[in-house]
Amino acid sequence: MTEALAPEGFVDLHSHVLPGVDDGAENVAEAVTLARGLRDLGFTCLVATPHMRPGLYDPAPQAVVAALHELRAALGAAGPRVLLAGEHFLDDEVWMRIGEGLGRPYPNGRAILVEISTIGPGPARLSEQLFRLRVGGLRPVLAHPERCAAFQDDVARIEELRRAGVATALDLTSLVGQGGRGSRRTAERLLELDLFDVACTDLHAERELAEVERAIKRLRRLVGDDGLDRLLHRSPLRLALELPPPAAERPA
Ligand SMILES: [Fe+2]
Repeated sequence: MTEALAPEGFVDLHSHVLPGVDDGAENVAEAVTLARGLRDLGFTCLVATPHMRPGLYDPAPQAVVAALHELRAALGAAGPRVLLAGEHFLDDEVWMRIGEGLGRPYPNGRAILVEISTIGPGPARLSEQLFRLRVGGLRPVLAHPERCAAFQDDVARIEELRRAGVATALDLTSLVGQGGRGSRRTAERLLELDLFDVACTDLHAERELAEVERAIKRLRRLVGDDGLDRLLHRSPLRLALELPPPAAERPA
């Protein structure tokens, strides 16, 4: 399955490359530029994660699927491969949709990308909500915790969430200053403590491609080649794309 999904290359679990559905690519031409730009940086598989944030960006499911097909057709066989999930803003409405099976989990159906506001303390019941997702069979993947005030001063809270099965996704560009000094410092601290499961681009626009390129170089310096492969290839594949082997094939 690994080869078919992403031969050798990086896998991006968080991007806004679909045309015309949120604050990412505005049209098909820009979407193609973004996808090919990421391919040129080593990504062979992109998971498009349009926002699900009622009142701000909340595209209809049909529009999202149509945009996916449009982008795939425009990219053709040269790729990169584009798959679909969503970035879920954890308010009451989205929480209800996820419970009703109306969220957009990752392709393996075992994990789901969630975000909270970057300002303020975050939802009062965040830990409980994330735990309930986990128990219900969907592993929460927390988008860019380093950018959230709720975690910047409380790295122990991230440790606690990870112990409860929550996965964490670094926004690569935090490493090169996107999001400010607090995000950068927290990103470096969480990397030092080995508290990130995956690294993602959260790409919205062409101008960010150069930042992603710089960020990958910086990440390589911080974690080495094997760390880079883990954060950008092995872990994202395992977390969001692959299915666990059938029980009979699992080691005893
Ligand atoms: Fe995002």
